[in-house]
Amino acid sequence: MEKLHALALDAGRCRHVYADRVMEYVMDENKNSIIRLFDVTKRYNGKLALKDISLDIEQGEFIFISGPSGAGKSTLLKVLYLAEKVSEGQILIDGMNLARISSSRLPALRRRFGMVFQDFKLIPNRTVYENVALVLEAAGEKPSFIRKKVMHVLRTTGMDKKYKAFPPTLSGGEQQKVAVARAVVGEPSIILADEPTGSLDTKSAQTILDFLMEYHKKGATVLIASHNLHLLDSAVRGRNIEICDGKINRTATML
Ligand SMILES: Nc1ncnc2c1ncn2[C@@H]1O[C@H](COP(=O)(O)OP(=O)(O)OP(=O)(O)O)[C@@H](O)[C@H]1O
Ligand SMILES: [Mg+2]
Repeated sequence: MEKLHALALDAGRCRHVYADRVMEYVMDENKNSIIRLFDVTKRYNGKLALKDISLDIEQGEFIFISGPSGAGKSTLLKVLYLAEKVSEGQILIDGMNLARISSSRLPALRRRFGMVFQDFKLIPNRTVYENVALVLEAAGEKPSFIRKKVMHVLRTTGMDKKYKAFPPTLSGGEQQKVAVARAVVGEPSIILADEPTGSLDTKSAQTILDFLMEYHKKGATVLIASHNLHLLDSAVRGRNIEICDGKINRTATML
């Protein structure tokens, strides 16, 4: 695949320069959106983190969210995952308005998402195996299926040998691999990955990226947030949404 030469910021901190592989994105009104954001604003104690974000994402899209540190990338993924409430605006998932969803339907909706948090959020007093298995246990899967599936994702992320370890005894990179395994084990239709390779060496980062891309190929909608534009070099065809100071700065199609 042709390389995208993503050079670092040119004019100030907001503008990225790409050599090739990108073109301006034109929205197709006729496509079916799985995620829709209407004028979403998020403030933390009065300070803006997201400002009037409007966005349509189709089922099966691959989206790379870029932007400098503090741009609002994590906040965007967190409001989609319902880990944070929006201050203004609306979010629809498959036509369901997140602001109006009843608490009884929330667990089922959450299971449609797999989230890799930037700070991993593993449960410290549960083993690696238990952290990953919890997702399937909550979904009511059979123990034999859970064992097979959990060990399979741990093998693929290279963490099977440490399945009995507790997160605080792992390196940052190892914890990140477990966080990725946990996010995908339930085969969610939407994967939200916040800096999923931020703690990894180049080779492990590529393995994890390829792993996430496998789920994209199988039909999942994948959103990866990162300030590391070099990840785009190995990303598949998709859309790049660049945010800065809480606003969408530019949307481009990666060819
Ligand atoms: N829990 C919070 N309380 C207060 N302010 C917050 C909180 N979380 C984020 N912010 C602020 O919101 C803004 C956006 O933060 P966010 O974490 O979304 O940025 P980011 O693009 O993910 O940055 P990075 O690349 O460093 O991860 C920043 O100014 C940050 O300080
Ligand atoms: Mg972040």
